[in-house]
Amino acid sequence: MPVLTTPGKSLVETIFDLGHSKFHTRRIMVDNIDIEAIAGKQGMLARAYTDPEVFKLEMERIFQRVWIFVGHESQVPKPGNFRRTSIGTNEVLLVRQKDYSLKILFNNCAHRGTRLCAAAEGNRTSFICPYHAWTFDLDGTLKGVPDVESYPTSFDINDPSLHLKSAPRLQDYRGFIFASLSEQGPNLIDYLGKMTDAIDNLVDRAPDGIISVDGGHFRVRYSGNWKLHHENANDTVHPGFVHESSVTAARQSQKGKRGKAEPIDDGQTRGMMASNGLSPKDWNTIELNGMSNGHSFMSGFYKSGLLAPQRDDDVTRTYRTALEKAHGKKRTDAILGMDRFNNLIWPNLNVNSQFHQIRVVHPISVNETVIEGYCFRLKGAPEEIFYRSIRFLGTLVSPASMIFSDDLEIFERIQHGLENGKLERLDHRRGMATDKPLNGTGNFHSTTSSELPLRSQRAAWKYWMSAGQ
Ligand code: FES
Ligand SMILES: [Fe+2]
Repeated sequence: MPVLTTPGKSLVETIFDLGHSKFHTRRIMVDNIDIEAIAGKQGMLARAYTDPEVFKLEMERIFQRVWIFVGHESQVPKPGNFRRTSIGTNEVLLVRQKDYSLKILFNNCAHRGTRLCAAAEGNRTSFICPYHAWTFDLDGTLKGVPDVESYPTSFDINDPSLHLKSAPRLQDYRGFIFASLSEQGPNLIDYLGKMTDAIDNLVDRAPDGIISVDGGHFRVRYSGNWKLHHENANDTVHPGFVHESSVTAARQSQKGKRGKAEPIDDGQTRGMMASNGLSPKDWNTIELNGMSNGHSFMSGFYKSGLLAPQRDDDVTRTYRTALEKAHGKKRTDAILGMDRFNNLIWPNLNVNSQFHQIRVVHPISVNETVIEGYCFRLKGAPEEIFYRSIRFLGTLVSPASMIFSDDLEIFERIQHGLENGKLERLDHRRGMATDKPLNGTGNFHSTTSSELPLRSQRAAWKYWMSAGQ
């Protein structure tokens, strides 16, 4: 399917025009769905979160065309290693080939469609269907069919239509693997744009320059639309309200403890919970960046804690020394000093470089979403640094998190409200009067508690839902 770009303009500039031009009035109908009306300048229509037909179109036009994060190279290090994941609602297998290249295979048998592999990950020499034992090589070619002599002569085991379907494009950026189910579209580097900085920073934090996913992962499921996760992550007004109970609990537990040793995790959990209790004035000092291709990030606000660069303890000192040995002091300061929180790569990845972790969004249906959280081990860093990352991830996004459980509750309340209320259009205008364009980039910047990231996501949504139409 062709992708629209304005002649002489980059992808980002084209999306910017489509999303922001006040002169743009063309009606964009796709499968009888009015994209222009849904992605209005004031905010999205409620049906974008509740209508199964819109969700179906999103899976086709967004998740089957843009670059979707499918895993990290460390999760499939050797030939035969695979991991089961998803691209939108398509279940796929990321498979390391015999020649060490990578392939995305659709996880359903070419015979009668059975789900091929139920394991989440592992190592195989081939994939054997549990129903009638058709056997597929690691690259998806069919190599064995029981009772093959009973088939007519027209049945050819080498016929490509009998092989597992694969993703036409797969590309990695410093070990982060993305796939696109479209043969056309921007290359990965152009698509990521400024977000490559976040991935660079995560990898550069490893003294030996190698990171690997380790320690399993957290997985939570909420009854709400997939867009709600990214819309919330860089919303800087909600924490003081949504997370009020954990802020209050953290403050109460702090009373009378100043200067005393923290009995549990050196105050990490309490500190993270308390961080959400910034005053409105403080939240307004946090910088937001929104890009027309849907990505966004905020400057950091977890200023203290076990992974803070200024921390003065043996582990941090050993880690810093290892980094300085690899990069020198000046560059080490720059690496550790990069303080960007929730680097949202639209539509399905959140990179938190300074805490060595990512979150991945998996849409299940119009009102169901799964979020996975992973931690990275930094090669050359003390083992304790990895444990600190795990502690951070557990506090922030585990099913038992006292922070993320609040967000999940809100996602479900939004979904319930949109499905059962009378609101026709959501309001995404906060900060519109104060957002500043970054000249010539199609990107915006804000130093107020703006809904800029939502408008960036909406611009990308509108572009991909209508591109090629
Ligand atoms: S459905 Fe897979 S072998 Fe029959
Ligand atoms: Fe939150």
